[in-house]
Amino acid sequence: MAPERQPLIAAFLHHLTAAVANAGLYSREHVQMRRLVGAVADALAQLLEGTEEFLLLRLDNELVIDGLPWKRSLQTERLAALMSRRGIGRIRIAPSITPEEIHGLIEALAGRGLNPPPVRSSTHLRFGRVEVRRRSDAFLDLPPDSPLAELSRGEISRLMEIYSAVKRRQKMNVVGLNEMVSHFIAAFSQEADPFLALAPLRALDEYTFTHATNVALLNLAQAVALGIEGQALHDIGIAGLLHDVGKLFIPDSILNKKEPLDELEWGIIRQHPLQGARYLLNSPGVPRAAVVSAFEHHLRYDRQGYPAVRNQWAQNLCSQLTAISDLVDSMLTPRPYRSAQSVREVVKALKANVGGSLHPQLVNNFLRILVQAKKRDAENTRSA
Ligand SMILES: [Fe+2]
Ligand SMILES: [Fe+2]
Repeated sequence: MAPERQPLIAAFLHHLTAAVANAGLYSREHVQMRRLVGAVADALAQLLEGTEEFLLLRLDNELVIDGLPWKRSLQTERLAALMSRRGIGRIRIAPSITPEEIHGLIEALAGRGLNPPPVRSSTHLRFGRVEVRRRSDAFLDLPPDSPLAELSRGEISRLMEIYSAVKRRQKMNVVGLNEMVSHFIAAFSQEADPFLALAPLRALDEYTFTHATNVALLNLAQAVALGIEGQALHDIGIAGLLHDVGKLFIPDSILNKKEPLDELEWGIIRQHPLQGARYLLNSPGVPRAAVVSAFEHHLRYDRQGYPAVRNQWAQNLCSQLTAISDLVDSMLTPRPYRSAQSVREVVKALKANVGGSLHPQLVNNFLRILVQAKKRDAENTRSA
């Protein structure tokens, strides 16, 4: 951080916490509030001059600014506590933030009363991880400041680039995919809690990318719980990212169709495992587990499903893990034609498919992960 930025940041934090503290005492129009908001606006204008944005991250009760931990003080702890209470993990402020948006920032942080207004992003002011979900599923939420949550969002834009090359029938950036999975595995070990991967990302609109990332994370969580490590673990993550790659070759008009599909269209959708596997087979550097899982992830444990295979066909472990991740993520994600389903419903579906589409022991492994995640949540709630 440039040394000349430090006093500007300190001034901004100082004025912001003062304004937030006063927001509960005075109305917007009060002379005292007008003075405080003016001070925040001046401090921000200086801070944002010549930059693209100001990014404030919260890691527990610490703040990270310009990518570095900011020195702790009562003031920063207070601000971190306010952010935590409102479920805010990060705040991005762009130049030309308006006075109205500055009020929005102050009021979002103040959020007093029994029913504080929801935290809302606006054009020049973006809040991260602000969505509050139903309590029954809260244990599936990544903490707003989790390294895994931050990382996953960054990786999704990377995956978008890789996928768009595939769609244009260009060479696939396997190195990029390997780096993504290495980052995920590193974030897992940093978390010291692989079960956090059960918190699928649902904030982004792009289903194809969030689904691929979620399936990769869920695959890794299952594999870690089974004690798998090293290259095999890495390959299982890659397999999750690529399982549906064949869908990139299906026309969007069929994939995004809101009306029910006809037989012919279903037939085209059912081609995606074969198309994906064929494409991956011709992509140097793709692990075998990923090719096999692309081919087998809709094949069921009882060998029903598709594509049709001969009787003695043995479904690969990685494909079986991917089938579970696929089912779990698709149930937990809202789609245009139905809302997200609850964890209770997911558990029911997993149990109902034991020995049918899913491997009994792997379902048990997954249910154990859910139980541990729930326990962890209960412990966190007690110690909070
Ligand atoms: Fe699929
Ligand atoms: Fe899928």
